[in-house]
Amino acid sequence: MKFIHISDTHLIGDEYHSLYGIDPEFRLKKAFNSIDKWHKDAKFIAITGDLSNDGSKSSYKKLQEIVKNSILPVYFILGNHDTRDNFRQFFPHYAGNNFIQYPIKIEDKVFLFLDSAVENNPYGKLCEERLIWLENQLKTHKKESVYIFMHHHPVSCGLYEMDNMGNFKTQDTFWDLLKKYNNIKHISFGHIHRIMHSCKNGIPLHSTRSTAFQVALRTDCKEEYLTNEENPTYAIININKDGDTRVHHHEFMNEDRIYLGEC
Ligand SMILES: [Fe+2]
Ligand SMILES: [Fe+2]
Repeated sequence: MKFIHISDTHLIGDEYHSLYGIDPEFRLKKAFNSIDKWHKDAKFIAITGDLSNDGSKSSYKKLQEIVKNSILPVYFILGNHDTRDNFRQFFPHYAGNNFIQYPIKIEDKVFLFLDSAVENNPYGKLCEERLIWLENQLKTHKKESVYIFMHHHPVSCGLYEMDNMGNFKTQDTFWDLLKKYNNIKHISFGHIHRIMHSCKNGIPLHSTRSTAFQVALRTDCKEEYLTNEENPTYAIININKDGDTRVHHHEFMNEDRIYLGEC
């Protein structure tokens, strides 16, 4: 089974023309064109939040326009830049709950999409309602393989700003809950705008780059630096019949500039 992971699309509202000198809409369209071309056999695309940069209705309208032609189903969660009410106006099937979180079952696997966002704050957390929901889902699906998607990083990333102001405040509670189950196979997250792989309590985790702009790897200072010198990526996750997982990160902007050769 294969699925695609996109994160931090940061689409901008109509009143803006660019974001740090780049056009997030153009880049996201390139990502979807690439996925349509190379990954028709994937089961779905998961987009792990910060769908919008400004939470505006016009940014979600752009998202709606881009994803409506996708040949694969697209599942969303929200990040700290998003606005739930504005998002739901363009994706009304997500209405009816306080949060944007839900399970998707495919074959013998369950994909849990968590809502870690706290509107108007950079940090994330799972409040009591969301934690109870997660516990109920884990109890319900304890015989299946579970894969989790969330926006905030549930492990430290080594970047001061992200690990202090933009961190996941309920990290300890989250891991205490996960410790009770041995069927959680992988966690995919966003928010840090970088490729990072990690492992905690035997559970592998990864993030992929933003499809818009990146966070520079400056671990020695308290300021946050952004960069457009690192290309955007999406991730391709393959799970084989034994449950082994393979994660690739693909730089899609210049994917046709390749040549025959030997490694
Ligand atoms: Fe972001
Ligand atoms: Fe974020």
